[in-house]
Amino acid sequence: MNAIAQPLVARPRTAIVLTCGLAALAGLMFGLDIGVISGAQQFIQKEFGVGDRTIEWIVSAMMLGAAIGALGAGWLSAALGRKRSLVLAGALFVAGSLLCGGAWSPAALIVARLVLGLAIGVATFTAPLYLAEVAPERIRGAMIGMYQLMITLGILLAFLADTALSASGNWRWMLGVIAIPGALFLLGLFPLPESPRWLVMRGRRAEAEVVLCRLRGDAAQASREAGEIKAQLRTPQRGWHLFLENRDFRRSVGLGVLLQVMQQFTGINVVMYYAPRIFQGMGYATGAQMKFTALVGLVNVLATFVAIALVDRWGRKPILYAGFATMATGLGIVGALMHAGLATHGEQWLAVAMLLVFIAGFAMSAGPLIWTLCSEVQPLKGRDFGIACSTFTNWAANMLVGLTFLSLLNGIGQAETFGLYAALNVLFLVFTRWLVPETRGVSLERIERNLMAGKPLRRIGR
Ligand code: BGC
Repeated sequence: MNAIAQPLVARPRTAIVLTCGLAALAGLMFGLDIGVISGAQQFIQKEFGVGDRTIEWIVSAMMLGAAIGALGAGWLSAALGRKRSLVLAGALFVAGSLLCGGAWSPAALIVARLVLGLAIGVATFTAPLYLAEVAPERIRGAMIGMYQLMITLGILLAFLADTALSASGNWRWMLGVIAIPGALFLLGLFPLPESPRWLVMRGRRAEAEVVLCRLRGDAAQASREAGEIKAQLRTPQRGWHLFLENRDFRRSVGLGVLLQVMQQFTGINVVMYYAPRIFQGMGYATGAQMKFTALVGLVNVLATFVAIALVDRWGRKPILYAGFATMATGLGIVGALMHAGLATHGEQWLAVAMLLVFIAGFAMSAGPLIWTLCSEVQPLKGRDFGIACSTFTNWAANMLVGLTFLSLLNGIGQAETFGLYAALNVLFLVFTRWLVPETRGVSLERIERNLMAGKPLRRIGR
């Protein structure tokens, strides 16, 4: 093995940063997709002359496709491997975005968004799994944080492209142009190594050691890690059976599902899909709405750096506490200001600032950390299944939030809707205290041992 591995040992750090950087581009596609539709909606509506219900379907078809893609991705990434699944997702993404740009009818657009969603579903399942499997423990959190950074960059880019193209009203370009980063992603994937864990799972230990050696720069360490993985794999991947038979695995699957429900019900995507509408509700005209929306995208990117810097220093739980508290405060004040009527410029400004505080609270905590935790808490032999369940939940909950926001605004009112989301964030603080484990610096193998020994969820990281 050494003969093959030696030439690649030279710069393990570069190898790992490149690997994770490229895989994290999957996050970019995720973000582009979330961000791009908010600015395009009104022009699509005009060209096709459709009502709100059809628009809701055009928006949500992507989330539906993503939920289906995430479910199938568990099987795909086990059968094809992590890398080939990412390649498939990239190809579907390019096809889906070109179809969106060329859609000849609302129905065609819905189908195209569904294809795009399938791509995102597969990518959002496979990329964090891949990252968790190639990054060494000490930087695992930060590497997965990079994935979230790419999501936020994608959203920002989409907001900016929408703003730039909104003067011409060319929604076809808005939706079609994201095929370019999709194609780059596809090209960037080719030099990536396959996940060493997957290779060991398929009985290809020698290849796994070559990859590990390239990533860690140390042949002895590579051999040790491959041995550890092998030892864990004596029982093969059988997620569904494990789920039926093993109570401890059901606990970790339940935790992953709960974590993603928490992430989505912070209310983040209410802002991502409907920011211009929210700023309109605060009394701002179109120009200001678009500027503030771009600002939302920017704050979302910047605050993600805070998470990346802190995640392997402070640990997961303190950051989540700070994040949920910040989000509850931001949304609570927005709700209170709306309730009071936003009578002055000062109050309007404060409402915008508090919405940005909410975004910052999310981006520095639940945004990246929930994905990190979801990939860390599953035992290896059920990891694919466990992450498929939590990623599916992310999209299903995302769709629920997206489909109910306007009805909530019309039904219970603006102030009450924001108040409701603020209250949910308080509840998530309590959930974090009681159910979420601290996983900083703990090996995946140890987390698994603790889980399977029946320790309470919040202690499986000790
Ligand atoms: C969430 C997305 C959200 C994005 C915002 C991600 O972690 O899963 O639903 O749109 O963060 O930055």
